[in-house]
Amino acid sequence: MTAIENPDTSTEKFGRDHFNDFDLDSPEFNEHYTEVLDELVSKCPVAHSNVGRGYHVLSRYADVRRASQDWEHFSSAEGYQPNRPKDMAPIYPDECDPPYQTRWRRALDYHLSPRVVRSYEAAVTQHANFLIDEFIADGECDFIAGFAAALPGRAWFNSFLGRPLEDLPPLMTAIEHALVGPIEGRADGWAELVGYLDAHLKEREKEPPRNDLTGAVLKGVDLDDGVNPELGPGFEFELGAPCPWEHKVAALANLTAGGLGTATLLLAGMAHHLATHPEDRARLAENEELHDKAVEEFVRAYASVVAMSRTVRGEVEIAGQTFQDGDRVLLLYPAACRDPEMYENPTKLDIDRNLPVNAAFGFGPHRCIGSHLARLLAKVTLRVLLDRLPDFALAPGCEPTYQTSVTREIQGLRLIFEPGSPIGADL
Ligand code: HEM
Repeated sequence: MTAIENPDTSTEKFGRDHFNDFDLDSPEFNEHYTEVLDELVSKCPVAHSNVGRGYHVLSRYADVRRASQDWEHFSSAEGYQPNRPKDMAPIYPDECDPPYQTRWRRALDYHLSPRVVRSYEAAVTQHANFLIDEFIADGECDFIAGFAAALPGRAWFNSFLGRPLEDLPPLMTAIEHALVGPIEGRADGWAELVGYLDAHLKEREKEPPRNDLTGAVLKGVDLDDGVNPELGPGFEFELGAPCPWEHKVAALANLTAGGLGTATLLLAGMAHHLATHPEDRARLAENEELHDKAVEEFVRAYASVVAMSRTVRGEVEIAGQTFQDGDRVLLLYPAACRDPEMYENPTKLDIDRNLPVNAAFGFGPHRCIGSHLARLLAKVTLRVLLDRLPDFALAPGCEPTYQTSVTREIQGLRLIFEPGSPIGADL
């Protein structure tokens, strides 16, 4: 592969040659995150990685969109990770192609549609108020553990899946181990989460059918092309036969894992921005009609899914480069979100921005199924924060840190505020 010209200054400034030796998991990418994204968008539309079996990286809006839409050349059926562990069970609808993927989306989309998601707004607001009640008298909080990591979990397990709140503490620990803990503990954390979801489905199977998200998962879909027979269990299948139980558990696991950490960065990023930009906070406090637009901009600015992988089928040209059958290609969404060809002055977080399409949620058949839930969580958080902690600021010395891989995680956001009284949020 021909090396891409990369001025020495770039390597010096950003710790490694991200054009020719990109690594999604590298400390250098994590540390110089936004600068590297901007360098890639402006100078290197196709970067290369030598990690594992190697992969290419698309960073511009138009290229990420095209590859996402062209699922026949850019398949998801070999997994969303660039170097997928061989023993990992596949998740659906993420790790398959149409028509099987389309069947799952048809089955599930309605249950995460704007209309259905809106019906949970009051419950999500109660959860948010409950969490604030827990720390408001202290005048300070760990905003990640106390709110941004907790709210998505409560909304998902309690409101959407109808699970009891007492199940949450051990479950959230398992999820933390599965998604952001040390690599050696991830398989155990994942197994615990999948075991819990399997038991939830088995419990619900004994009850009369219900028209909700769990009901749709239980009903399942018929098998069809688009599944990779080499991945995971249950693959001696007949086209048109009902999908195996493992696929139902995998669909619920996909929804669960897709929605928790991703929403945490969004909520925490939003709180961090408002704590450090009092002028934006004042405008949002006075003008609730600005909230929807601002939330959309927070989603763009804190695009929490960093990259999803595709496998090339056949030969295809994109961004002036020809890819060969079997090549792995990474779609770098936060870079697409910072492409000046699409978004004017993209490095600025502008709460008045009009966003015709939000690249943070992806494009094409796999475009985020949970986007309306993510927006609702952010909208409720914005309203409740402005209402109940109107003067919140960063605690002295607080500097959040980040961890970057397929998703981006935030740690250490401490807030201080004038102590207030619990309102006795009723759950
Ligand atoms: C700010 C929050 C979120 C961001 C930035 C985000 C981003 C994305 C992106 C970029 C994709 C496309 C993946 C691809 O093309 O391969 C995606 C897919 C997906 N997201 Fe989200 N997401 C968020 C929240 C959620 C939530 C709350 C849920 C849970 C309900 C969720 C569940 C999923 C699932 C299941 C998929 C796979 C869809 C498919 O393959 O058809 N996401 N998300």
